[in-house]
Amino acid sequence: MNDKININWFPGHMQKAKREMEEKIKLVNIIYMVLDSRIPKSSFNPLIKEIAKNKPILLLLNKADLADSTETKKWMDYYKNQGYYCLDIDAVSGYNMKKIVPYTFEILKDTLEKNKNRGIKLSMKAMITGIPNVGKSTIINTLVKKKVAEAANKPGVTKNQQWVKLDSNLDLLDTPGVLWPKLEENGLNLALVGSIKDDIMPIDDVVQFGFKFMDTYYKDVFYSRYKIDAINNINDYYINIAKSRGCKDDDYNKINNIFLTDLRGLKLGRVTIDRFTSIWKRII
Ligand code: G4P
Repeated sequence: MNDKININWFPGHMQKAKREMEEKIKLVNIIYMVLDSRIPKSSFNPLIKEIAKNKPILLLLNKADLADSTETKKWMDYYKNQGYYCLDIDAVSGYNMKKIVPYTFEILKDTLEKNKNRGIKLSMKAMITGIPNVGKSTIINTLVKKKVAEAANKPGVTKNQQWVKLDSNLDLLDTPGVLWPKLEENGLNLALVGSIKDDIMPIDDVVQFGFKFMDTYYKDVFYSRYKIDAINNINDYYINIAKSRGCKDDDYNKINNIFLTDLRGLKLGRVTIDRFTSIWKRII
């Protein structure tokens, strides 16, 4: 890492945000943790596991429409093996969104059964957590079918919370718990999908990481889109992209922009940046 990315990403109120999250988690029976399916590891913040204690965590692998479904399945199997519940969803099209409530009742069936036997009539309670930009607000809005999650969807910012009904027996906190991503290890992956702003990581590093990544994992679509024949050094990527798009091969801003817009906008197909390959041990 160079000096440019040595930013103060963890502000002083981190501890306060953590305490607030702990308070909120005490109120709920289940935590929905939203991940970006293109970066199922980089968008996972292990802090939530620590503060969830023994409460069940349902991982919602959102933006499944943008990710490589073969990789999504590998990650879901991995997380299930680690004791998490998992669902791949697309909050924009609604894919699998209707499964969230019934799955929640299935996960909480023991608690529901106990309450029933004791004659306790309590709604189950859930909250949504996740790093910025994974789609938390979109999910809340889709679930409750109105705009409720706009205010205070930032780390460390609070507002008076309210419960919204997802079912007669299930309430959801109307504001998500926001976690910070771990930039030290995951910065390039987060930046490549646009999960963090483009000025946080050096853009040339992000793009060059993307070139090499695409060349390794999605070579056919990458080479075909930009009519690449052979690559001898990193500069050849710029030359080929510039040629295919009719711009100057030293106009790095433009080439960076072309590549990132294509990658994030499905023009290079569905891609998963966090690769599962050979991570067979417990990592999260
Ligand atoms: P956050 O609360 O976690 O910060 O995320 P938010 O819901 O604001 O979503 C961030 C961006 O991701 C939004 O796009 C949103 O439309 C998009 N998004 C959310 N879920 C999905 C999904 O399942 N698939 C796809 N393809 N996109 C998703 P944006 O460009 O920032 O805003 P806009 O398009 O809503 O204007």
